[in-house]
Amino acid sequence: MNSYTHYANWIKVRQALPSRIRIGFVPTMGALHAGHVSLLKRARAENDFLVLSIFVNPTQFNKAEDYQHYPRTLERDIDIARTYEVDAVIVPEEKDLYPEGNQMPIVPHHPLSQILEGKVRPGHFSGVLTVVMKLLQWVKPHRVYFGEKDFQQCELIQALVRNYFLDVEVIPCETIREASGLPLSSRNQRFTAEQLPLAHRFAELLRSGSFDDLGAIQRRLEEAGLHVEYLETHFNRLFVAVECHGIRLIDNFVIL
Ligand code: PAJ
Repeated sequence: MNSYTHYANWIKVRQALPSRIRIGFVPTMGALHAGHVSLLKRARAENDFLVLSIFVNPTQFNKAEDYQHYPRTLERDIDIARTYEVDAVIVPEEKDLYPEGNQMPIVPHHPLSQILEGKVRPGHFSGVLTVVMKLLQWVKPHRVYFGEKDFQQCELIQALVRNYFLDVEVIPCETIREASGLPLSSRNQRFTAEQLPLAHRFAELLRSGSFDDLGAIQRRLEEAGLHVEYLETHFNRLFVAVECHGIRLIDNFVIL
C-alpha cells in the first residue's frame, strides 16, 4: 500500500490502472473508527482497487476551534488502511488540493442544503461539496462510499453527481453504532472518560419515548445537560444535533 500527498505523483498511478479495473473510493477526514471501516470493507468487497483519502478539510468547518481540535491520528489510520487492504491512501496537502485557495467553491441552492446542518453551520455544505468534487477529480473512482450518519451530506453528494453528470456511483452505507445507539464518530474521541457517559445518555434518551412528542424528547435532553441545536423530522427520519460537553454530536434515523 502506498500513500500519496501530491496530485502529480498520484495521477501517474491512476492513469496506469487498466480501464477494466473497478475503483472504489472512501473519502474521510481520518481518525478512523469502525464506521469508516465498514465503508472500507464494503468498498473492498465490491471493487478491484480501493482508495482511501484522509484530509481534514478546512473549508467545511465554520468554527476555527472545531477545525483545530479535530482529532488527527494519521499513523494509526495508515495501520488501519493496511489492515483492511487499502491499495492507495491519498493524504493531500492543503496547497495541493486548493492550489489557488478556495476561489472556485461549489455553492449549493438545493433545499436540503438550507435546513438542519446547512442552517446551523453556514457554508458547511459548500466546503463539503467543493472538496468532494476535487477528490473525485483526483481519484476518478467508479464507486464512492458515504455513511448515512451524515444523511444530508450523502443526499447532497448524490445531487452533485446528478447535476454535474459525474460518472460515479454513490453508495450510501448504514450507520454503525455503539450498543447505546450512539453513532461512531471521530469527534467521540475527544470525550474524556468522565464525559463519555453523557454522550451515551444522549443516544438512550433519544430512543426513550414516543417520537410524536419532540418537545418532550427535547426537554429530556436539555434536563440531562445537552444543548439541542435542532430536533426535527423530515422524510420519516428524526434528525438531531446536540452539544455535549462542548462537542457536537449529530444523528438521524428512520422513525415509523
Ligand atoms: P468523516 O466524518 O471522516 O466521514 C467519512 C465517511 O464516513 C462519511 O461518509 C461518513 O458519513 C462516514 N461515517 C462516519 N461515521 C460513520 C458511522 N458511524 N457509520 C457509518 N458511516 C460513518 O464526512 C466526512 O468525513 C467529510 O465531510 C468528507 C465527506 C470526507 C469531506 O471532507
